[in-house]
Amino acid sequence: MHVQKDRNQTDAGRRTPDADAGLNRTNSLHSCYLHTKTLEPMRKREFLRLTGIMGAGVVVAPFFACGPGEPNTEGGNASEGDVPPPPPPMKEFTLPELGYAFDALAPSIDAMTMEIHHGKHHAGYVRKLNAALAETPGFEGLDIAGILENVSPDQSGVRNNGGGHFNHSMFWKVMEPGGANAPSGDLAAAIDRDLGSYDAFKESFFSAAKSRFGSGWAWLCVGENKKLFIMSTANQDNPLMNKVVEQTGMPILGIDVWEHAYYLNYQNMRGDYINAFMEVINWDRVAEYYAVAVS
Ligand SMILES: [Fe+2]
Repeated sequence: MHVQKDRNQTDAGRRTPDADAGLNRTNSLHSCYLHTKTLEPMRKREFLRLTGIMGAGVVVAPFFACGPGEPNTEGGNASEGDVPPPPPPMKEFTLPELGYAFDALAPSIDAMTMEIHHGKHHAGYVRKLNAALAETPGFEGLDIAGILENVSPDQSGVRNNGGGHFNHSMFWKVMEPGGANAPSGDLAAAIDRDLGSYDAFKESFFSAAKSRFGSGWAWLCVGENKKLFIMSTANQDNPLMNKVVEQTGMPILGIDVWEHAYYLNYQNMRGDYINAFMEVINWDRVAEYYAVAVS
């Protein structure tokens, strides 16, 4: 069985001093492809470009250790009345374009669901992420992947809305019309090798999505060993959140199983929605993510 369980939100027992420090990215015991030690910046940028969120929130100005009102400990000569330099302005994340018509996935996913999901739900995550970052220090200068890597379980505003922004950005991409409707090439071979077969993948992925209690996501990921595995996360958690989830990986496919993703058309029949989603997966897009993950 290849399904990995998520980490309980209230399990704070594994938090470390480094985790509390917020910006230390070298303490992870569960390195994944977006960690700096295993994925060079160019590959990380390529992955974010493919998800459509490259550039959003990336602060190019240098990180200032001292924020407003904090003591300047570097100079040692600060006198009363000195005003520390202001921090660089934090670029705000923005809602990415859907890239296709709301009715493009119908009848699998109906137009009203797509319009509300993208324009209301995803937009809400973006808005609340910007608000959370404005009042949560420690994420300055990080792109969205870096934010997810460093967010702690108790930083709920950044955790929920940062995950929400990343997860939905990928979700729209992996359903974009026009791609192959089945895996091929290296990705198909990897599915056969690591998950048994394409049919076995579908069965495991369906099970992970169907059995997720309450709201959450199911994922196809590339692990540290470059092997594929399937996992599920609660709420808006994400496989990149190494301080939150039990096993990290680079997500290359995700399905949203919050009721807002399907209730208008499928009501309580989550399984029917999952099967419909399977029909609209853009496997060319998933293959792009896979290629970046294993390159
Ligand atoms: Fe959603």
